[in-house]
Amino acid sequence: MDINFNKDVYCLIGNPIAKSLSPIINNSYYKIIGKNNIYLAFNVKEKDLADVINVFKILNIKGFNVTLPHKISIMEHLDSISDEAKILGAVNTVKNKNGRLIGYNTDGMGFLKSLELEDVGVKDKTVLVLGAGGAANAISISLAKEGVKKIIISNRTLSKAKILAEKISRKFPKVTSEYDSLKLKNVRKEKIDIIVNCTSVGMHPNIDESPINLHGFSENLIIYDIIYKPRRTKLMELAEKKGYYTINGLSMLINQALCSQEIWLEVEDYNFLKNYKEIKRILEIYVE
Ligand code: ATR
Repeated sequence: MDINFNKDVYCLIGNPIAKSLSPIINNSYYKIIGKNNIYLAFNVKEKDLADVINVFKILNIKGFNVTLPHKISIMEHLDSISDEAKILGAVNTVKNKNGRLIGYNTDGMGFLKSLELEDVGVKDKTVLVLGAGGAANAISISLAKEGVKKIIISNRTLSKAKILAEKISRKFPKVTSEYDSLKLKNVRKEKIDIIVNCTSVGMHPNIDESPINLHGFSENLIIYDIIYKPRRTKLMELAEKKGYYTINGLSMLINQALCSQEIWLEVEDYNFLKNYKEIKRILEIYVE
């Protein structure tokens, strides 16, 4: 990599960030598109957040991603926040526009983009979302925006599923929303088109766990597991045995990063699919 005077610096702040794949994704992207930028990752403690943001402004850092535990607390340090990030109550991307910090959330955008690249349409579909945390919020709100017919939120803690289902009904009255526990006793499984796993069940190192069993679903079911480590989760393994189409979390991870890049660089990437595939090929070396 050439280090010279023309670099714009972008970065990630979070705690912990040691295992983050974001530097690989974003630096690979700059290399592919021939941009002389650099992307770094910084471990930032909560007590230091305000100071770090000030330093970023002074150094004219052009943009940064935000991950746990700062996705909510960052909001009080920003000059404005996109509507989507406001609805989600969380920011994962900040753009420094002439000294003004603007917050965005590209989790939902990245999820939708990954569906588009996989040629999976969601309009008028019934989607079962497993989980009710940050990722489930971003994904179900983006699905509701995109015009799904029905969203069923299923979560271990029923009260959180209820809160998310009610939020969807409030913000998107045309979308039917329901909630249930992960046992799915009240759900008409045969009516479900897509399942998205947003729980951490099945994530490394608990790779033998699945959030639900797959009895009683229709033949054309699509299973999207947003976990990317392992690349093939227990849930995906069960799904593949039944012949269902599966998608893993690498796709969303890469696409949310590429959506952040579009915000920072203010250009539409006309080689999006080609660049996505190239980054996926690179990442697959790092993630088993
Ligand atoms: P993220 O930001 O990745 O969405 P999160 O907000 O911590 O992370 O959400 C984690 C999700 O995984 C939650 O829906 C959580 O369920 P609870 O609301 O009941 O905590 C779910 N989850 C985590 N561990 C789980 C387990 N062992 N069994 C079932 N669900 C689990």
